[in-house]
Amino acid sequence: MNILGIETSCDETSIAIYCISSAFKKDRMFSKIESQINHHLPFGGVVPEIASRNHLIKLEPILNSLLKDAGLTLKDIDLIGVTNGPGLIGALFTGVAFAKAIAFALKIPVIGINHLFGHSISAELEYKNLKAPYYSLIISGGHTHLFEIDRAYNMRLLAKTIDDALGEAFDKVAKMLDLDYPGGPQIEELAKKGDPHRIKMPIALRNSPNFSFSGLKTFVKLLVNQNSYSAEDIAASFQYTVAETLADKIEINNRLHNIDKLVIAGGVASNRYIREYLLNKIKGIKLYIPSISLCTDNAQMIVYAAYKLRNKRIFLGLSSSAYDKLQNTLAY
Ligand code: KG4
Ligand code: ZN
Repeated sequence: MNILGIETSCDETSIAIYCISSAFKKDRMFSKIESQINHHLPFGGVVPEIASRNHLIKLEPILNSLLKDAGLTLKDIDLIGVTNGPGLIGALFTGVAFAKAIAFALKIPVIGINHLFGHSISAELEYKNLKAPYYSLIISGGHTHLFEIDRAYNMRLLAKTIDDALGEAFDKVAKMLDLDYPGGPQIEELAKKGDPHRIKMPIALRNSPNFSFSGLKTFVKLLVNQNSYSAEDIAASFQYTVAETLADKIEINNRLHNIDKLVIAGGVASNRYIREYLLNKIKGIKLYIPSISLCTDNAQMIVYAAYKLRNKRIFLGLSSSAYDKLQNTLAY
C-alpha cells in the first residue's frame, strides 16, 4: 500500500509518500519540505496570500521528484491524507484541492487530517513502541493545546492557551528584540549568550491547567522599552520562563488527569533548551519528544496519520465543497 501525504497549512510545502510493504520488506518513507521563509522574511511574518501562491507553484514539482525517488508513478498511490485544518484557509485550500484532484483522477479515497493530530502522532514515527492512549501537548505557532488521545485515536481537548500561542509569543518577543522571523530559532540562538536567571518574569494563571502568554509578552515589551537589560539576557530569561511555565502546567494537568505518557510536539518543541529542561524537570511521566525535523511542520506526520486512520472512514467527499470540510476542522 502506498499513501500520499500533503501538508500546506502554513508556510511549509511538504509531501510524503509512505510505502507499507508486505511482511518481509521494510516500510519506506519518502518526504520533502520546501520552506517559504525567504518569501516571508521581508514582511516579518507569514503573508497568507504569498503562502498560498507558493504552495500552488511547489506542490506539483515536489510530488514529481518524490515519486521519482520512490520509484513509483501516480497510479501506484492507493490513498491520500491531506491537512484540512486548522491553518491558513487559502494555504489549506491549495493542498486539499491538489489532493482531491489526484483522488478524482485515480478514483482513490482522501482522508482529511487535523494538523494537530498530525503533530501528536508524529512521535510514533520515532518511538516504535508508543501506541495510544497517550496525551499530547502541541506547542506551535497557532496552538498551545493539551489533548488526550484515546485508544481509537480520538482527540479530547483538556487545556489550552487563553490568548497567544507559545510560538506566537516567541515570534512577537523576537520582533521586539529586532530579530528576524521566525522568531523561535532566533531567540534560542541569542539566549545561548544570556543569563536565564537574570530577570524574573511572570508565570500567568499559576493554579490553572490552562496557559496564557500575553502578560509575559507585555512584560518583555516594557523591559525592552526600559532599555536596562541586554537582549541576550531578555531572550534567555524569557526562554527559561517559558520552559518553567510548561513544566508547571504539565504538573498541574498531571494532577488532574494522571498523565503517564506525554508527547510534546509542534514547532516550539524543536527548541533544544526547552526539550532538555522538560526532560530533566518532569518526573513520573514518560516524555516522547520527536526529533527536531519532525517537530516543525512536515508531511510525514500527515501521511502516517492517514495510515493510522485509514479504517475510520472519515473521507473527504470529492463532490462536496472543500470549504464545508475545512470548516468542520476549525473547531480548535
Ligand atoms: O508547528 P509549526 O512549524 O507551525 C505551526 O503549526 O504553527 O510551529 C511554528 C512555530 C513558530 O512560531 C516558530 O517561531 C516556532 O514554532 N519555533 C520555535 C523554534 N523553532 C520554531 N520556537 C522556539 N524555539 C525554536 N527553536
Ligand atoms: Zn504545525
